[in-house]
Amino acid sequence: MEKFKKVITADGSFTFYHPLFGESYHSISAGAIGESLKKFLLPSNLLWKAKRQKEIYLLEVGFGLGYNLTVTAVKLKEVRPNLKIHYFGLEYQIVPPIGELELPSPYEGFHEKLRENLLKKEKTSFEIENVSVNLLLGDARKRIKELGNLKFDAIYHDAFSPKRNAELWTLEFLALLKEIIKEEGFWVSYSTALPVRRALWELGFKIFNTKPVGRKSPGTAATLKGTPAGDTVYPLSEKEVKKILTSPKAVPYRDPCLCLPREKILENYLNTIGNNSKRET
Ligand SMILES: C[S@@+](CC[C@H](N)C(=O)[O-])C[C@H]1O[C@@H](n2cnc3c(N)ncnc32)[C@H](O)[C@@H]1O
Repeated sequence: MEKFKKVITADGSFTFYHPLFGESYHSISAGAIGESLKKFLLPSNLLWKAKRQKEIYLLEVGFGLGYNLTVTAVKLKEVRPNLKIHYFGLEYQIVPPIGELELPSPYEGFHEKLRENLLKKEKTSFEIENVSVNLLLGDARKRIKELGNLKFDAIYHDAFSPKRNAELWTLEFLALLKEIIKEEGFWVSYSTALPVRRALWELGFKIFNTKPVGRKSPGTAATLKGTPAGDTVYPLSEKEVKKILTSPKAVPYRDPCLCLPREKILENYLNTIGNNSKRET
């Protein structure tokens, strides 16, 4: 197996470069921990919910190195120490170098227990400090069906970028997420890719920008009927809405059987937008 290279990020926390996807697990310029906090937890409305609910259901597409889970668990416990968190993570595979990580305070305690359960005990379902951790390993498109009737307060969508990990950003996969998010729940992601925003739009989500972290462009938050608490998300500009509705590139990735290879999904998309552009001229 090619090597997962360890990389330091802007806030001093480490991440890995994935040799097959050709991307790092976290933004180098935003900082790995900073990204978890500002791109996922803050815009998810979960801090607001933790003050009002005794239990939180959180789904993550791409458990990765467990940073988003760790930061979320530690920060939500600061708000309500006895909060029960039900975490479900869809993940292709746990990568062994996760054992080389050591997170800064106050996150290392939780992450150490995570590493111990995953690597030493080889468990995929376990409990840490009132957080039930459930990992569904394998292709997320298949395993997501096992979530049954669960409804989630928030969904963190943290796959690799749409161009490199297309199978997790299609209209069909996002439609499955729509079925299991609570009406007032928030879907959040670092991505602002037009095919993704267009798919969310077609599925009936209200779309917001999340505050930029470590770069100029924002991220995306989307909800069916929720109202954002605080100022961590803000509405799209008229120009952004127009782009989603009229840009030839604003065409969802498609995977009708939820089984196509990611390269094929991208190829079909590029053919479609190529044809759209020809029609325009
Ligand atoms: C950017 S990383 C996630 C980082 C993570 N959220 C964290 O906080 O450390 C993306 C993850 O998506 C997983 N992934 C990519 N394609 C997948 C698929 N088809 N099914 C399940 N997981 C997938 C990768 O293995 C990788 O761990």
